[in-house]
Amino acid sequence: MSPAASRIPRRPLQLDVFTLVPHAYAWLTEQRPVATVLGSELDLRLFSYRDHTPLRAGQVDDAPYGGGAGMVLRVDVVAAALDTVYGGVPSHRVIALTPQGRQLTQRVVEELVEEETITLLTARFEGFDERIVEHLCTDTISVGPYVLSNGDLSAMVVVDAIARRLPGALAEGSGELESFSEELGGGLEHPHYTRPSEFRGWRVPDVLLSGDHGKVETWRRDHVR
Ligand SMILES: C[S@@+](CC[C@H](N)C(=O)[O-])C[C@H]1O[C@@H](n2cnc3c(N)ncnc32)[C@H](O)[C@@H]1O
Repeated sequence: MSPAASRIPRRPLQLDVFTLVPHAYAWLTEQRPVATVLGSELDLRLFSYRDHTPLRAGQVDDAPYGGGAGMVLRVDVVAAALDTVYGGVPSHRVIALTPQGRQLTQRVVEELVEEETITLLTARFEGFDERIVEHLCTDTISVGPYVLSNGDLSAMVVVDAIARRLPGALAEGSGELESFSEELGGGLEHPHYTRPSEFRGWRVPDVLLSGDHGKVETWRRDHVR
């Protein structure tokens, strides 16, 4: 995937995540590749809705109109948070993470990497007041056709997928020929093996032990799935 990385024009990419649990991102920011690019290629900022809520006692959500279970993230809370941080409606992409969103694919990740600034909005319980999606966001992303318990897991998926596409995020060569890349025609990477060469009678393909780089390369190309 190196050509995409070399197209990237300006850095750092600023990623702003609005969340109820900024501390939950500590693990992510300590891990590669996010840790590697933080402060150079990636500027990750975490904002708590609670720090900006105009409501008392840190309230951020409320019961749904029409009744029913769960709590809904309030539009006035999210608007206040965006106003405080950006001084109004931002001109960059503001993305709500929701199961109703556009499916995240590697192609979408490549598109996001080209942005200068991205804001990710997370929710929990029943999700967003729909006016947040309609009036405060530019678009929506779903990380898959299933329901997670909170948008922070989804945001971390997006942050990690973006981070590994930034220059210097991965060891030389390890980001090339990855699954879903243009180089593999969107296909899946070949299988990998390591020592021992035989275990319980399960042998590593002979060609990978041959030391013949040409044959290994051909085998790998032939085993793209
Ligand atoms: C329990 S979910 C809300 C599910 C919602 N009531 C529904 O049925 O579609 C709470 C939050 O987790 C996040 N979330 C859950 N699944 C997601 C997914 N597949 N993609 C992106 N975000 C997701 C969203 O921020 C969502 O608002």
